[in-house]
Amino acid sequence: MIICANPLTQYQSHGAEILEAIRHVLESGNYILGPEVAAFEKAFAQYCGVSGATGLNSGTDALILALRAMDIGAGDEVITVSHTALATVSAVIAAGATPVLTDIDPDYYTIDPASVEKAITGKTRAIIPVHLYGQAADMDAITAIARKHNLKVIEDCSQAAGARYHGKRVGSIGDAGCFSFYPTKNLGAIGDGGMLVSNDLSFVERVRRLRQYGWNEQRATDEPGINSRLDEMQAAILKAKLPHLDRYNEKRASLARLYREGLAGTDITLLKERPDSLHVWHLFVIASEKRDALLEKLAASGIHAGVHYRVPAHLHAGYDRLCRIPKEGLPQTDALLKKILSLPMYPELTPDEAKKVISVLKN
Ligand SMILES: Cc1ncc(COP(=O)(O)O)c(C=O)c1O
Repeated sequence: MIICANPLTQYQSHGAEILEAIRHVLESGNYILGPEVAAFEKAFAQYCGVSGATGLNSGTDALILALRAMDIGAGDEVITVSHTALATVSAVIAAGATPVLTDIDPDYYTIDPASVEKAITGKTRAIIPVHLYGQAADMDAITAIARKHNLKVIEDCSQAAGARYHGKRVGSIGDAGCFSFYPTKNLGAIGDGGMLVSNDLSFVERVRRLRQYGWNEQRATDEPGINSRLDEMQAAILKAKLPHLDRYNEKRASLARLYREGLAGTDITLLKERPDSLHVWHLFVIASEKRDALLEKLAASGIHAGVHYRVPAHLHAGYDRLCRIPKEGLPQTDALLKKILSLPMYPELTPDEAKKVISVLKN
């Protein structure tokens, strides 16, 4: 059986390092906010090319706390896409703001800057571009719009650890970058984890207080926070895996090249790769009018492809009444929902397995 993502294989390739990291934490007796979290924050900030980072419990919390530390909440509007992990939109709602959902660019499936510009009102405070499937959004256009309208930019980098846009790592371009270390992500923990990065150190420090009830180092507060701590065990595992991230991403890229070459000339649509950027292939998504038939044929051959996403955020029950979409709707988002599928993609997938996927699709 070939599955869409397989975090077990990551454990198998780095078992000794992961077990050593866990043993080290267990024997240290220091399980919450100790040296492993501090060291991983430093290493990850350096990797992203930013001034500072705060380790958190999840990518969702990174988005929520970024908004809170920008004083964005009730009565404010935040622009993002409907075609994303539901987490992006749930974070805006959890922060108390209204998600205003815009359409996507039909070539890259990332946020459409023209759609953003039209959605801005007097209440808009921030834009959350999502670097979807491992590929950066059009950050030049987004940052230009944000500057013109005095809006914050929070990059949702959950699917794109290590990706670059015009030479810069994602997360270092906007006011804040939010990462998820969910086990299937390009840098995956053995459980939940997240990180906020920024070049504004006072902002990073504010998020650091918010992650633990609002406490400062003296356990005094000037605003209430939550509990969203990255734990020592996950930080130690992530710190051990970080030096391998670029190599994992290169493996994903070579599988992506195999898929692209193998599927060229078929009637399957391949997404465009943004020029002068580094795509890290969190997912390898294709589009076809025969999507459901392809999913069935793949499954019959033991290949389990995914669909990211079948239902856009604005159509999810419970979310629909809380989100705003343009009156003309989201035609590009709607058009791709029945067409997309995600082929198996993870660093340990073998070239032969990828070739089998290609051959089933071609047949
Ligand atoms: C685009 C995107 N944003 C946010 C998240 C939320 O991350 P987490 O599951 O760590 O809360 C995810 C991961 O599922 C994601 O893919």
